[in-house]
Amino acid sequence: MCGIVGAVSKDKNILSILITGLKNLEYRGYDSAGVAYLKNNKINIIKSIGKVSKLENKIVKNDKSNIGIAHTRWATHGKATSVNAHPHRVKHITIVHNGIIENYEEIKEMLKNNNYSFKSSTDTEVGCALLNYYYEKFYDVDKTIKAFMDKVIGSYAITMIIDNDLDNLYVLKKESPLVIGISDNTNIVASDIRAILKYTNKYYILNDFEYAKVSADEVIIKSIKGEILNKELHTLDLKDNDNSKGHYKHYMLKEIMEQKTTILKTVLPFIEEGIDSLMTLPDLTKYKEISIVGCGTAYHAGLVAKYLFEEVTNTRCSVYLASEYRYQNNFLSKDTLTIFISQSGETADTIAALKLVKSKDCPTLGIINVENSTISYLVDTCLYTKAGSEIAVASTKAYTAQISLLSILVLSHGLRNKTISKDKAIDIIDEFKSIEKLITPLLNNKDMYLSIAKKIYKEEDIFYIGRGLDYYLSMEGALKLKEISYIHSESYAAGELKHGTISLIKKNTPVIASATNSNLNAKTISNLKEVLARGAVIYLICDDNYKDDTFTIINIPKVSDFIKPILVIIPYQLIAYYTALLKGNDIDKPKNLAKSVTVE
Ligand code: G6P
Repeated sequence: MCGIVGAVSKDKNILSILITGLKNLEYRGYDSAGVAYLKNNKINIIKSIGKVSKLENKIVKNDKSNIGIAHTRWATHGKATSVNAHPHRVKHITIVHNGIIENYEEIKEMLKNNNYSFKSSTDTEVGCALLNYYYEKFYDVDKTIKAFMDKVIGSYAITMIIDNDLDNLYVLKKESPLVIGISDNTNIVASDIRAILKYTNKYYILNDFEYAKVSADEVIIKSIKGEILNKELHTLDLKDNDNSKGHYKHYMLKEIMEQKTTILKTVLPFIEEGIDSLMTLPDLTKYKEISIVGCGTAYHAGLVAKYLFEEVTNTRCSVYLASEYRYQNNFLSKDTLTIFISQSGETADTIAALKLVKSKDCPTLGIINVENSTISYLVDTCLYTKAGSEIAVASTKAYTAQISLLSILVLSHGLRNKTISKDKAIDIIDEFKSIEKLITPLLNNKDMYLSIAKKIYKEEDIFYIGRGLDYYLSMEGALKLKEISYIHSESYAAGELKHGTISLIKKNTPVIASATNSNLNAKTISNLKEVLARGAVIYLICDDNYKDDTFTIINIPKVSDFIKPILVIIPYQLIAYYTALLKGNDIDKPKNLAKSVTVE
């Protein structure tokens, strides 16, 4: 989603900081970009549709500046056009904005009645005009920002330049992420500290309804009441934030391969000393039920946990899409622990669902990848996945880190509620410790995935099926394929096929399945035979050396249900990757998608 960078410096040309920052935020997804900077005592604005490199080419080569703001926009209100791109400027005020001003229509009417007119269809231009309206009313920045925060409904991270005050950037925050990076004689504002790591790893985090005045050598952070706040200065550990592509063509492939280490890294603190380490995880026996909330891949990780909680530890677990959760009756109770899963820790719907649970004083736990992210602060307890920076939009290593951490949580719960014996727990811990050995052959099976990709990449519809845990994994498999290959792919519970979907099966329709539950495999295979009889081409992931010349089969080792999801998902990830590769798609930044969905 939208990305913000702003910089003010005594001795550096901030244009290169802004462009580097924007390039590092590209992974979030965007369709236009823009920059505003001080040139010859005036604010110079340049915008461009498409890539940041196009914007960079539009900037006059030897331009230099000491203060500026920049933005990548993922269109929400109004198409991806130059006029709608940020920065927006209204009289004294120039801003970039991430978030949505929900009551912008009402504000626009009020401003029109006060002789304001608008060029774009964005809520941001309305926000900019509102800031100017209050600025002209008070000629006082504190009062202007307070009035703006009081009036606006919605979410915003805003960075602002005021014409009469060209030594300072002003930043305001509610619900959208924003950090202030601190460096010598240069301070930099960004949506994500990783975007500006080249310049600094020291930063302040703004909370909702806080704002700051940022000059080259000073940062003053205030509350909405105008009180100066003493904020903690954070330091990001650089060794866990390698943002390079290494020798890989795409971040996605690099991240898939990194699963050799990220899974164990995530769970090691809880298994290193065997069963005793498991007991350092939160005790869930005090809860009657577990709820899990997430979006996209994180939601799919929740489904794997549901399977384990219910089937192995006999604990009821419901999984919800965050975007639906906030608008339904959730029967919230203090006996239910709600687990929020999020790679970024910044997903707007997940944050909103979390705030709802907190407002009822019910217990919360986070499974989060990005340290110091919004969700990590809001939950009662936060457990971190150790996947490291995930840059590719399609989530891979974060997913396996999430399901691994959740599996370990279920394991500790099972030991505590005595549904899992100590011997069984020791076996599962051993499996996790040998995860690299288990997954390396699957990661290296490139010829198999490429040959499948060659057969499917020209297809228009692909179906993924499975039963039980395999059904939940097929959902993630289908999502990976559609995200990056743009092939319509859907997952179905294998037994449901006959209730409608089988009508779509025709000659050569690919059907991809996993069957890794010996109680259910025969049934899934019957379903596969049914679609085979109707012309489908079958690809099957299985763990019991099933042989059938009419299917293409990928064998995985037989392991416990705790490890199985990791082994099944690797072929799914790589089939998606090679299919998108053959299609020549922009694999790391698929069209229309964003890595971090910071609006509802
Ligand atoms: C976006 C990303 C997905 C991710 C989802 C949830 O849609 O493209 O990869 O699964 O958001 O993100 P989160 O950061 O909350 O896990």
